[in-house]
Amino acid sequence: MTKIENATTANFECTSSSQVQYAFLDSGVGGLPYLQFLCKKHPASSCLYVADTKHFPYGEKTKEEVIHFSKEIVQKIIEVASPSVIIIACNTMTVCALDVLRHTFDIPFVGTVPAIKTAANLTQSKNIALIGTKRTVEDEYIRKMNCDLAQGCSLFHSDEGELVKDIEEGLAFAPIKEQIDRVLAIVKSFERHNCDTLILGCTHFLHLRSAFIEAGKQCTPTINIVDSLEGVVKQALRLSPCKNNVVPPAPCRAFYASGIESIQDLEKYDEYSLHSGLKLLKDLSLTSILKSMYQH
Ligand code: DGL
Repeated sequence: MTKIENATTANFECTSSSQVQYAFLDSGVGGLPYLQFLCKKHPASSCLYVADTKHFPYGEKTKEEVIHFSKEIVQKIIEVASPSVIIIACNTMTVCALDVLRHTFDIPFVGTVPAIKTAANLTQSKNIALIGTKRTVEDEYIRKMNCDLAQGCSLFHSDEGELVKDIEEGLAFAPIKEQIDRVLAIVKSFERHNCDTLILGCTHFLHLRSAFIEAGKQCTPTINIVDSLEGVVKQALRLSPCKNNVVPPAPCRAFYASGIESIQDLEKYDEYSLHSGLKLLKDLSLTSILKSMYQH
């Protein structure tokens, strides 16, 4: 047995409930910008990122399927990592399953929903655009949010599931010009409705935030881009203030994807992990999480 394994085993029992403070969950890589933002604010925070890529894309599933898969993966996260808080860094999962998750599991959750209130405060034209997955933009939850939080505003939406897939495939690493070319037509399509504010209602789109902002500047009127990044991280820190002192010898920075089926998948998720300062796990177990912390 190596020294690393000894140390891992020795710490297994006594630290199992405190290794991971924040667990982020998405169907894919969408929640990574949220984790990065939290880690930038709190470099010693302990974070686990779980991508349920086995069932990606959630946006094309039925509501019942989204609930089923979310419950399954949350159960697993709690079993192996017992985090202080789970951040559902996925609009689709939040809209479809957050209520059920809160009723099922005795742990604090933070959800991610389109930033409709922020957009309503910002818009001058009172015409707001929303892009997200089909499951999100067509959900009753969004219609209700619009009535409650954006009275007097009109909400125009479009389902951009293909863009979500491109980002999952690595568009986040493409040159900015290519990213702008990809999103410009999407943003411009809202000009005809006189929208001046566009909500990024899918966490994947945050990877292209700069491209969206640039595309928005090329529209008439200029379209401002809003998202839920700061609000979500703020709420996570409110529910569980960063401990900053957990675990030797390094804070947990682990990434697990449930559906790696090819070398290409492995390379892709390895790149996303590296880019976010995370270590890719082979399986979702406490032993893997601990090992990742000792192998820095
Ligand atoms: N990132 C997810 C969201 O915010 C959706 C991705 C998917 O379709 O699985 O809605």
